Amino acid sequence: MRIACLGGGPAGLYFAISMKLRDPAHRVDLFERNRADDTFGWGVVFSDQTVENLMANDPVSGALIHDEFAHWDDIEVHIHGETIRSSGHGFIGIGRKRLLRILQDRARDLGVNLHFEHEAGARLEDWAGYDLVIAADGANSRIRTAYAEHFGVDAQVRRNKFFWFGTEKVFEAFTFAFEETEAGWVWAHAYRFDEGLSTFIVETSPETWAKLGLDRMDQPQAIALCERIFARYLDGRPLLSNAAHLPGPQAWLTFRRIVCSTWHYRNLILLGDAAHTAHFSIGSGTKLALEDAIKLAEVLNRPGLGREQALAEYQAERNLEVLKLQNSARNSTEWFETLERYLHFEPIQFAYSLLTRSQRVSHENLRVRDRPWLEGVERWFQSKALGTPVNDPAPPMFAPYRLRGMRLANRIVVSPMAMYSAQDGTPNDFHLVHYGTRAQGGAGLVYTEMTCVSAEGRISPGCTGMYAPEHGAAWRRIVDFVHSQSGARICLQLGHSGPKGSTRLGWEGNDVPLEAGNWPVMAASDVAWSAANQAPREMTRADMDAVVAQFVAALGMGEEAGFDMVELHAAHGYLLSSFISPLTNRRTDEYGGSLDNRLRFPLEVFAAMRAAWPADKPMSVRISATDWMGEAGVTPDEAVRIGEAFAEAAADLIDVSAGQTWAEARPVYGRMFQTPFADKIRNEGRVATMAVGNIYEPDHANSILAAGRADLVALARPHLVDPMWTLRAAAAQGYRGVRVPPQYLNGMEQLARNLAREAELKA
Ligand SMILES: Cc1cc2nc3c(=O)[nH]c(=O)nc-3n(C[C@H](O)[C@H](O)[C@H](O)COP(=O)(O)OP(=O)(O)OC[C@H]3O[C@@H](n4cnc5c(N)ncnc54)[C@H](O)[C@@H]3O)c2cc1C
Ligand SMILES: Cc1cc2nc3c(=O)[nH]c(=O)nc-3n(C[C@H](O)[C@H](O)[C@H](O)COP(=O)(O)O)c2cc1C
Repeated sequence: MRIACLGGGPAGLYFAISMKLRDPAHRVDLFERNRADDTFGWGVVFSDQTVENLMANDPVSGALIHDEFAHWDDIEVHIHGETIRSSGHGFIGIGRKRLLRILQDRARDLGVNLHFEHEAGARLEDWAGYDLVIAADGANSRIRTAYAEHFGVDAQVRRNKFFWFGTEKVFEAFTFAFEETEAGWVWAHAYRFDEGLSTFIVETSPETWAKLGLDRMDQPQAIALCERIFARYLDGRPLLSNAAHLPGPQAWLTFRRIVCSTWHYRNLILLGDAAHTAHFSIGSGTKLALEDAIKLAEVLNRPGLGREQALAEYQAERNLEVLKLQNSARNSTEWFETLERYLHFEPIQFAYSLLTRSQRVSHENLRVRDRPWLEGVERWFQSKALGTPVNDPAPPMFAPYRLRGMRLANRIVVSPMAMYSAQDGTPNDFHLVHYGTRAQGGAGLVYTEMTCVSAEGRISPGCTGMYAPEHGAAWRRIVDFVHSQSGARICLQLGHSGPKGSTRLGWEGNDVPLEAGNWPVMAASDVAWSAANQAPREMTRADMDAVVAQFVAALGMGEEAGFDMVELHAAHGYLLSSFISPLTNRRTDEYGGSLDNRLRFPLEVFAAMRAAWPADKPMSVRISATDWMGEAGVTPDEAVRIGEAFAEAAADLIDVSAGQTWAEARPVYGRMFQTPFADKIRNEGRVATMAVGNIYEPDHANSILAAGRADLVALARPHLVDPMWTLRAAAAQGYRGVRVPPQYLNGMEQLARNLAREAELKA
């Protein structure tokens, strides 16, 4: 095959090598616009896995690269005058210049034709004599841009500014240094990559950048300023720039995240940064470029595979890996972009949050990396929760939590789940067993399903209610059981279905109207949930007064039934949610329009409830933190304001759910997918939050809590199949402090022993 490789970065060079290794008969011409030893950047980092892949593909260059590596284990985080050091992180670094020199030599030895100082043409016509044209010309690929419509390019410019410096200061640990200036925070990512050199990337927000005058400074001035800011880390060594040819402000870069839906068009193939980019803070761009190169060479040389098939396989296989890394990279990028959120954390929690920012590293990963450090975090977390120093580490999920006069034994919550099993609103034996078992299962707090404040406020005929005397008595029986037979507290979730009412039992069709016997529904505006659902009546002031009275009456019955806590359901498109979302609230009076107006009625309901609920008992509010409809619906920024507004009205906790407010919305699901909203509301709004949504492992819960992303963690579906989720989690973690019903102690001990033995065998 005759192959033109455009770009002589890691991707282009390694692909050329990998092709020649597989078949020396290939003719590979590589065109690089720079000279052989011109290169931007300093060192790059890899993981051990990447090195193994390189060794397997080409032991010759692999060994040379391996010998050049600087290896280090520790990460140091400098924040607020403290240094937090943890170990076991296992990085390797190599100078980009050195890496490229090794790859150039190897390519030359294998017979690749290297053409330096050759600007590659950006049209396929320029490459008419070649069977394949490989676009390995980096993140700003000209040829990708020329054919952008065929690649489905999605390019996003991120906000922070960074400058990739080098320095002769040798950092023994991977160093993150955060410094506050009069204009805001500036930080550095620094790591050694050879005997006498380190990479030193300085990053800051665009606002701080401009306030510091970096938008006007020439390079020597900018360098002098950065040297002053980071003087205590540099030991008098200068910062070195290899972008000296650029005017000062242009030497500061902004990261461009590139995603392409298709990686090939005719005989043109994207490789490395030309196809996808990953933020430098997770250090994976070079790894992805090299692994793309291996895969592409492999499929192109696989006997019996046609070109189209080969390219489809190349993209399918690489895309999965790339998407995973781009996801982690996005989390990491966002962490640095929203750094201000976490500056109120104590240094140890700040460091934990930084280490787990990409969500690729979890609590248990940190335990494997550095057990003593992680146990220090666990002791710190427990001590804070207890208000007194403790010596024994315990998983964060087992730290107690206090909301007003209510003390929870741990941070795990059974999330509200409609059971559609009541008769005329009255809970029965099913509910007694259902809630009772889950309370015995060890969770600190058990929520009831949405319990409706009136018959017409029910979602379905099977919903529980709190509007008739028999309801109160039936709930009392359940509450008494929970209190007498478990250590759990129980929270009554009160709601009104509004426009999503008068529908079938969950398993007979969610949000589908009843076959017969529908009752009229009402909402903020006459917007139907779907074409199949009835249009609700727009609520009048008299309707609002009636609803406020119903919530207060239900609350009074809840108090009599002995509930420890009450939650107001203002999420998921039900009555109060229909006021908050601009998609369903079309009102032109003081209850529609601005967010303040849309919140007016839900806050009125909340205030009336708060006034009637005992001062020493807590209240929470469940909200949908996004409508998943972009700017047309509730946005996460608005959700912070919503959380703050309820907190100002004396809510103790915001239960952060999302969506279910608009039938056409397309939520982005995934592991812990709603937790970023709980994090944002908690740390921007400074309001206690509960995270919920596809959290299913103890490791998830511990990571969320220790990183300060939420105060409580709710699990719904996992509790449907495993009421004893918390007891099982305690056994799996070897934690003995959980309260086990004495009748079940034997089972618990056996489970703990078996799991410990299995863990030992695995280790
Ligand atoms: C600040 C910073 C820090 C980073 N840190 C790391 C890290 O620690 N670890 C890591 O793995 N990755 C890191 N990266 C990412 C890494 O540099 C890239 O992902 C990697 O270089 C991608 O390789 P590539 O060959 O696809 O592209 P590039 O390395 O960008 O190579 C593209 C080549 O094409 C050439 N070229 C472009 N256009 C033309 C043209 N028209 N004609 C001829 N030649 C052309 C360019 O001169 C360049 O040599 C970092 C990036 C930045 C910006
Ligand atoms: C069967 C079922 C019923 C639910 N009913 C309610 C409810 O009554 N009130 C509520 O706020 N959320 C309800 N939810 C949403 C859950 O509380 C939770 O937010 C959601 O299931 C995501 O958490 P998970 O991934 O742990 O299941 C329900 C979920 C399920 C699966």
